[in-house]
Amino acid sequence: MTASTPSLPKLSSWTLPWPTDWSALFGAERPLILEIGFGYAHYLAHLATVHPGSSVIGIEIANKCLVAGEDMIRKRGLTNVRVIHSMAETALHHLFTPASLSEVHINFPDPWFKTRHAGRRLMQRDTLDAIVNRLRPGGLLWLATDIVEYAEMSAALLTETPGLTNRLETPWVYQMPGRVLTKYERKAGQEGRPCHYFAYQRNDQPAPLVPVIEELAMPHIVLRSPLSVDEMLAHFERSEHRAGENIISLMAAYRGRRSLLFEVFVKEPTIEQHVAFLLTEHPDGGEFTLQLGTLGHPRPTLGLHQAAGLIGDWLISLHPEAQTLNRKLNPVAEASLKA
Ligand SMILES: C[S@@+](CC[C@H](N)C(=O)[O-])C[C@H]1O[C@@H](n2cnc3c(N)ncnc32)[C@H](O)[C@@H]1O
Repeated sequence: MTASTPSLPKLSSWTLPWPTDWSALFGAERPLILEIGFGYAHYLAHLATVHPGSSVIGIEIANKCLVAGEDMIRKRGLTNVRVIHSMAETALHHLFTPASLSEVHINFPDPWFKTRHAGRRLMQRDTLDAIVNRLRPGGLLWLATDIVEYAEMSAALLTETPGLTNRLETPWVYQMPGRVLTKYERKAGQEGRPCHYFAYQRNDQPAPLVPVIEELAMPHIVLRSPLSVDEMLAHFERSEHRAGENIISLMAAYRGRRSLLFEVFVKEPTIEQHVAFLLTEHPDGGEFTLQLGTLGHPRPTLGLHQAAGLIGDWLISLHPEAQTLNRKLNPVAEASLKA
């Protein structure tokens, strides 16, 4: 591959199969190395270069970093590395199977360390449990940070993780020979901030239970209502609901020709989706079908089933003669809506 080769197909956790068959994607069965939040991809490219016998996967949420990563791969002619648009939490839970990763690298995550950002921090119990579950026995976790409070918080979290053993004699070290510097690392050095390097190894303690999340069938509801789509629309109010651990925002409703389109945001612990549900009136009138619209790449998770159930229940509540004719929703979603 050379600088003139066409771009690689864009990959994201919304379009890749859950879980992903990495051997098929790379065309080779090799150990998997993951870098989370690879930024401008110097370290990612270095990983791919020094591990030619491994497949290297970079996860990022920032588009400019994904473009930089793709450029780097193309210019250097690297064939054993791919970048994926994904939140780390989504990738770890949905794309990888237990004991499938040989190494995980995290460099300078969360450049701010404020209490109000605590819920969004990468280094937290659930994400670390997912990393431990996805590392194979003997697999390695590498972490670097230039924020002393982040280092202290990570050291406490890692010490309380029985599935990992510290490879260093101290919680962290200030020098890690052989590293290629990342952009943030260079900046920290120029500004006189010491970097804290961690090296942990997966031991033989049992991994925390982290399920592999598989896709559900598409949610589907058929109902009868004497109301017209205009009358339904007139009743719509933006609202937010909690179903189990998930938060579902019914954000807006829009009128189509014989349809209503609901704009919905679903936040689940491992994935956030901004999707559309479409309510279509049957040609003979009086009957309606509610299903996922084709905007974006909706993945039928539990949260999306709960959202469909909430919209279905709301439509039925609008008129005493309205009734559900058919409701194909996941039983766990149904139970959580009744709770
Ligand atoms: C401070 S930068 C560090 C970049 C690079 N590792 C370095 O050392 O120069 C953190 C990077 O992590 C990415 N990031 C933040 N949260 C993430 C998440 N939940 N999943 C994937 N990437 C994330 C950001 O887009 C950003 O590029």
